Amino acid sequence: MSLAITGPARADRAPAVLASRRFAPEVIDRLRRSFALTLHDADEVMPRARLLHEVRGMRGAMVTPGDRVDTEFLDAAGGRLEVVATLSVGLDHIDVDAARARGVRVAYTPDVLTRATAELAVTMMLALLRRVVEGDRLIRAGTGWTLSPGFMLGRSPAGLRFGCLGHGRIGREASRLAGLLGMQTVYAGRIMRGDPQEVSFDELIATSDVISIHTPLTAETHHLIDARVLARMKPDAVVVNTSRGPVIDEAALACALRDGVIGGAALDVFEREPSVDPQLLGLENVVLVPHLGSATHETRCGMGMLCVDALESVLLGTGNAENFVVGSCPPDLTTRP
Ligand code: DGY
Repeated sequence: MSLAITGPARADRAPAVLASRRFAPEVIDRLRRSFALTLHDADEVMPRARLLHEVRGMRGAMVTPGDRVDTEFLDAAGGRLEVVATLSVGLDHIDVDAARARGVRVAYTPDVLTRATAELAVTMMLALLRRVVEGDRLIRAGTGWTLSPGFMLGRSPAGLRFGCLGHGRIGREASRLAGLLGMQTVYAGRIMRGDPQEVSFDELIATSDVISIHTPLTAETHHLIDARVLARMKPDAVVVNTSRGPVIDEAALACALRDGVIGGAALDVFEREPSVDPQLLGLENVVLVPHLGSATHETRCGMGMLCVDALESVLLGTGNAENFVVGSCPPDLTTRP
């Protein structure tokens, strides 16, 4: 792990920016061209003490969901900080109100990762229904097998009900893809819209074959899926989570899977990442993926470029970035003329 102070040619009058992780090379190049860059040139999360030390005096910071941007971070940065851009659409690691109170703009990366994340949700659903990962494990374990009429039968998605919890961009795209597979799609959102596909939370939970979670993590959605809710699902229902781990009570989920309360789960996110409840590891009816929702080269590069757009827009007055969090700062500061 190394920390490089880069861009001597720019270090004169260029705004000081901290990048807390090794972003895509194209993104780093652009950061170096525009700013006096302090780069944590590593794939690991920047140690907290180091982050708080290095952010001092910065005018901009580019962070990831592993970096908590709270009052401690904002205090450590000091009054020169104008903008924080996060390589994520999720904002649960950022105290947006505290940033707003200090006039610090917060930028995020909506839209660009919608397709990739929805694709992963549907991929994991198919892997679970068609027992792909279980089959892979069986072969790697050297277990003998024969192609026989009843061997490892899964379920076809066609005709199953796809219940989408949350109806933002990613949920809508996942539902569209599920529809292409012949699934009947319904959703439950925070705001009732009166659409034909809209059902109540309770109905979605009780009637869906696949429950795909696409809600942000907030105080209201923390442990939205707990033992009580799991008990109301169909016994063969499967849960897919590509949003945030703490939306599910992971220990309750592990018990429900072990006891056959529900049929399976496909998880891209975990309650205490990167740890995973050890009970889940031994279960066959579970697909586990290490937070890969937006993990394609094109998507991560596009997310990085959106962050740089926002940093340049605020600190250099160039471009016309619009990816600021709504309400994170006074309206006259959120858009440029
Ligand atoms: C997000 O964008 O919030 C993802 O979880 C990180 O890729």
